[in-house]
Amino acid sequence: MRLYLVSLLLVRSLVFCQSNDTLGLSNGYSTYTTTNWNIKLVKDSQTLASLKPSGSNTFDFSPFDVLGNQGSNSWTDGNTASNRAPVRRGSNGSALATSDLGPTLPGLADLDIIRQWIDIDGDLGLLYTITNTANGTVELGSLGFPIEFNNIFTGRPAADVEANCSLQDPYIGLDAGYIQVTPVDGTGSALVVTPLKESKFEAWRFLNETYKGPPLYYQSQTYEANYEFQVYTKAYAENEWKNVTPWNEPTSRMLRSKETLTVGLRFSLAAGGVTDIAATAIRAGIPQAQSVPGYIVPSDAETTLTLNTTSRVLNITITPANALAITPISNGVYTITPASNAYGRTRLTIAYSDGHQQTIHYNIVKSAPTVLSDLGHFLTTTQYYTNTSDPFHRAPSVLSWDRSVNNFVLQDNRVWIAGLSDEAGAGSFLAATMKQSVQANADEIARLETFIHHTMWGVVQVSNGTDQYAVRKSVFYYGMPGYPYDPNIEWTGAWNKTEAYSTSRAYDYVHVSAAYWALYRAARAFPDLVKLADWQWYLNQAYQTVMYATQMTGNDTWFVGYADDGLMGETVWGEILKDLGREGMDDKVTQFEARMKARAKHWNSLAVPFGSEMAWDSTGQEGVYYWCNYFNLTATVTKTINSILGYMPTVAHWGWNGNARRYWDFLYGGKIERIERQIHHYGSGLNALPLLEHVRNNSSSILSDMDAYMLRVGYGGNSGPLSNVDSDGFASAAFHSWPDTLKWDPYSGDYGPNFVGLSLGAGCFIVQEQSGNVQTMVYGGNVKTRSNATLLVEPRDAVRRRVYIGAWRVQVELDAGAIQQIQVDTSSQTATITIVDAVTAQAAKAKQAVVWVDNYQAGGFKVTTSGLQASRKGILVLLVNGTANFQVGK
Ligand SMILES: *[C@@H]1O[C@H](CO)[C@@H](O)[C@H](O)[C@H]1NC(C)=O
Ligand SMILES: *[C@@H]1O[C@H](CO)[C@@H](O)[C@H](O)[C@H]1NC(C)=O
Ligand SMILES: *[C@@H]1O[C@H](CO)[C@@H](O)[C@H](O)[C@H]1NC(C)=O
Ligand SMILES: *[C@@H]1O[C@H](CO)[C@@H](O)[C@H](O)[C@H]1NC(C)=O
Ligand SMILES: *[C@@H]1O[C@H](CO)[C@@H](O)[C@H](O)[C@H]1NC(C)=O
Ligand SMILES: *[C@@H]1O[C@H](CO)[C@@H](O)[C@H](O)[C@H]1NC(C)=O
Ligand SMILES: *[C@@H]1O[C@H](CO)[C@@H](O)[C@H](O)[C@H]1NC(C)=O
Ligand SMILES: *[C@@H]1O[C@H](CO)[C@@H](O)[C@H](O)[C@H]1NC(C)=O
Ligand SMILES: *[C@@H]1O[C@H](CO)[C@@H](O)[C@H](O)[C@H]1NC(C)=O
Repeated sequence: MRLYLVSLLLVRSLVFCQSNDTLGLSNGYSTYTTTNWNIKLVKDSQTLASLKPSGSNTFDFSPFDVLGNQGSNSWTDGNTASNRAPVRRGSNGSALATSDLGPTLPGLADLDIIRQWIDIDGDLGLLYTITNTANGTVELGSLGFPIEFNNIFTGRPAADVEANCSLQDPYIGLDAGYIQVTPVDGTGSALVVTPLKESKFEAWRFLNETYKGPPLYYQSQTYEANYEFQVYTKAYAENEWKNVTPWNEPTSRMLRSKETLTVGLRFSLAAGGVTDIAATAIRAGIPQAQSVPGYIVPSDAETTLTLNTTSRVLNITITPANALAITPISNGVYTITPASNAYGRTRLTIAYSDGHQQTIHYNIVKSAPTVLSDLGHFLTTTQYYTNTSDPFHRAPSVLSWDRSVNNFVLQDNRVWIAGLSDEAGAGSFLAATMKQSVQANADEIARLETFIHHTMWGVVQVSNGTDQYAVRKSVFYYGMPGYPYDPNIEWTGAWNKTEAYSTSRAYDYVHVSAAYWALYRAARAFPDLVKLADWQWYLNQAYQTVMYATQMTGNDTWFVGYADDGLMGETVWGEILKDLGREGMDDKVTQFEARMKARAKHWNSLAVPFGSEMAWDSTGQEGVYYWCNYFNLTATVTKTINSILGYMPTVAHWGWNGNARRYWDFLYGGKIERIERQIHHYGSGLNALPLLEHVRNNSSSILSDMDAYMLRVGYGGNSGPLSNVDSDGFASAAFHSWPDTLKWDPYSGDYGPNFVGLSLGAGCFIVQEQSGNVQTMVYGGNVKTRSNATLLVEPRDAVRRRVYIGAWRVQVELDAGAIQQIQVDTSSQTATITIVDAVTAQAAKAKQAVVWVDNYQAGGFKVTTSGLQASRKGILVLLVNGTANFQVGK
């Protein structure tokens, strides 16, 4: 029996072509229209050249505008791209275009392949009919469709990228799987690509190319890559992927002599944009799954799964078996509860009565506060570096860790990773300190104070002289006389001392200011635990660090590089500003606001205000949102939210749900260095912050479809950083998504900013959604009892100090202790909140907590329990025997 790997090209890939003739462009294009699309096919090859929504004259999902650019030819053999001979035109029948691929497939002599472009209810369809012409059976070990939409940013100014490019994300869910393609600016129609006939979405395979040079620079910071939608993967699973557990069970297809297989794809227009993607997939005939709050499931949390399908559910298989309990609640609605010992990747396979199968991909983590507890412990014990003879003065510190060898990263040619700065070197101390702001621990605080006073202040940050408060780019460097640099590392180009000690990167200041702020919060809530300085010192250090970073040298010119960009994690600057106000430090508030206002006004003057060190990025949006929202610059606020929705999907897979597009930071912070789509890199936690705040800030008491969508994306992103932490508490920079790898990077790297997003954004959201009837949905909490007027919820989020009550658009927040339960009474418009002194056995026990009640609309909700004192612009609640109750109402 012969075994075949078949790649069925539907779009001619640009990078592989030597000239316009090998692209087959010299004979021009044929034009077709369906209700939803204007289509151009290359005449000779009948491959897709242009795909524009029928309502749009300009936006093209295909990279038509760079078709004809040249590189060199390197596609692997055995697929329809390798031979550029014109295809034989077939008889069209009802199809738009038909071709017999015989001439293009010399390597597949036993297979007769007919390709048809068809009109399906106004959508575009692509069908391949494959017939085994041999006498014997053949096995298709791999079959797939290479996909190329216009994610080529190379050579384009930012505005051109926004106007012309789109971003694709997969839902690798078998028959229910799809690819969603969204315009980069997040507005306008989206494209949804669903399986037709026997197609199923089994894997998403990165397509490697030998040629990566000009003019398009395939697999670079400006051109992530192309991927293949794979229907069968057994051949890869047995070879290239053999050390990996794939997302779906690998299959192949036996084709008996004369037997015919039909596979294909449907291209549907989601005219309503991102919020219309799910409904578009349903209209295309595939089931939709939606899990609230998401697909990363803490072991003590319940999840609600809703299936929207026209066929019946026959059975649901859980892999590994018994990892979850699935309880039907009503038609198509289930409660999912993790088994007590369940952990890690868990797949549901749903069999439908129409023969379709859908997979849903969960990741079970420990109870979220336990994840934080493990993380804090690991960072301040295993990752605590104490060698005080280190010539770079890195001890004591929380230093980068390599999980594959279980040791510190003391050397790397990307010196900052070993040098306690940049995201990838500061990440570990950033996570360890921020953890104290949400879950204080006495031993951890003692070590972190020592780090701050001996290493951060004075080594990482200049502690005296005219540059006091300046933050260095790295304290490790190449060129220290006598240091045993590893000769196996390529040191050419590594920073010398001058370069490493440069203080010109504003990003680095955020991490240091966050560390101070976190210790300020810990000192305020637990004065006994903080010993080397008082809260005033920590808050002032945070303030001074921000002021150094944002000093100006003229109108629209800043002293420290990148201070005019949105900076990763700078939502913490908003927290610093709030606390300066709560402490009555009004002069500092004024100074601080002036600095932020200059930045916000600058952004508001730009067409695309999301600049960074990179040509295209998903890091600036968080800061731009925070300050433009703060100063009510609403046009930029809207633009920013749209931009985030362009690169952050929600799909029924823990890895892509709320996963903001990041694909180059393994080069700067990972051990496995390559351009590769990252799963739950810090884009997830950070971009979730604006989305969640926008839901609170902009929604009505019943969420619109858009707000509900944003909450799902935002909650998914906020949960992402829980998945990076392993069962011992080690946190990885990000997960490798290529199907031959599928594992966490061994480096701790730049996990820290992801944790900033988690700690500042985590909360329990009790909201009303309109799906048929108005329903109360809880993100980040288990509903204990539900009646007409009352709802009793136990938070299950990571922090347990924030509850948002959507019906009143009110958020209640604590600075210490943990919310154990909240009873919401809609008839009397009161919430009764029970708090406890510590969220885990390891956490420091609070004696008191300050409660802040934020009204996102004029409602006048406040703490109504009598006899409580005001404190820091909130209300002070004293805990008695480790617990307290208070009421919020009008
Ligand atoms: C290919 O076509 C493009 C667009 O028509 C043109 O700009 C380019 O010069 C052509 N390249 C070659 C090698 O003919
Ligand atoms: C297929 O079988 C027929 C009849 O047995 C035979 O004539 C022919 O040569 C075979 N073809 C191939 C490719 O083996
Ligand atoms: C991609 O191809 C290049 C050139 O053939 C090769 O060096 C590289 O190892 C390949 N990468 C992967 C991930 O297969
Ligand atoms: C299923 O999805 C369709 C299309 O979005 C929607 O109209 C319908 O209300 C949904 N059904 C359920 C039960 O949610
Ligand atoms: C689920 O249903 C499908 C379709 O009827 C069937 O093939 C499969 O064996 C069933 N699985 C289980 C575990 O019952
Ligand atoms: C500044 O601090 C550094 C490092 O702590 C120290 O070596 C130096 O003497 C100090 N300089 C002054 C002027 O105090
Ligand atoms: C350090 O590196 C910078 C930038 O590469 C270079 O300009 C400078 O000359 C180097 N300094 C020393 C002392 O080698
Ligand atoms: C800065 O802007 C102000 C107000 O627009 C203007 O008066 C001032 O001259 C400008 N300063 C510089 C250095 O351009
Ligand atoms: C922004 O608008 C809100 C609501 O109108 C107002 O309360 C707030 O003071 C404004 N903020 C600024 C900085 O102008």
